[in-house]
Amino acid sequence: MEDILRGINVAPSILSADFGRLGEDVETVLNAGARVIHVDVMDGHFVPNITIGPLVVKALQSLVHGAGALLDVHLMIERPERYVTQFAEAGADMIVVHQEACVHLHRTLAQTHEAGALAGVALNPATPVETLSEARHFCDMVLVMSVNPGFGGQSFIETSTDKIARARALLPDDVIIEVDGGVSEHNAGALVAAGAGWLVAGSSVFGGPDIEARFAAVARAAVEGV
Ligand code: DX5
Ligand code: ZN
Repeated sequence: MEDILRGINVAPSILSADFGRLGEDVETVLNAGARVIHVDVMDGHFVPNITIGPLVVKALQSLVHGAGALLDVHLMIERPERYVTQFAEAGADMIVVHQEACVHLHRTLAQTHEAGALAGVALNPATPVETLSEARHFCDMVLVMSVNPGFGGQSFIETSTDKIARARALLPDDVIIEVDGGVSEHNAGALVAAGAGWLVAGSSVFGGPDIEARFAAVARAAVEGV
């Protein structure tokens, strides 16, 4: 697990996969070398869209863990503290909550650790990295949103690269930086160079035929940024 946490990882987001053949699509990216699978949970309140819950995490966990990979669960929901334990029990390895959705962020991060998962904090595009000056000591990962959360296939917000560099300067070395939204082979290298370790990629991986080749192209570009 340590090498996945410390390494450069492209994390395919199943939001852009074919839900009618979700198992096959996930198997394809695992075979292509993915070691982090990103799961987007949306409640129709924190974000306009509604997606999936712990049942889908549970359904994927033996496939993902069997390949030696991790389940990275991004909660775009209000009051995520109500569901953290359920997602951990379903097999989530990393649970990311939004800073904007947590009044008692310290407690929610501690609850995530108590449930046996790693704890991440996501920041919307307009939320400054400085808001993490305290929380940086209580989390394992910071997710810099490079689009407004809610949908796949949006355009990358260009100022996010500099935001990642500022986050890297603020955060302890062992806190991973993840970037999510509009990531492709065209910006992956620059994002890694700025300090990102995990790169979520939805439509750039699942948005066309030959998923394996599409994953490989983003992964290659990411490693070039090291
Ligand atoms: C957006 C989600 C993302 C989404 C990214 O709210 O958090 O994980 O799947 O999709 P792309 O890579 O297509 O921007
Ligand atoms: Zn996401």
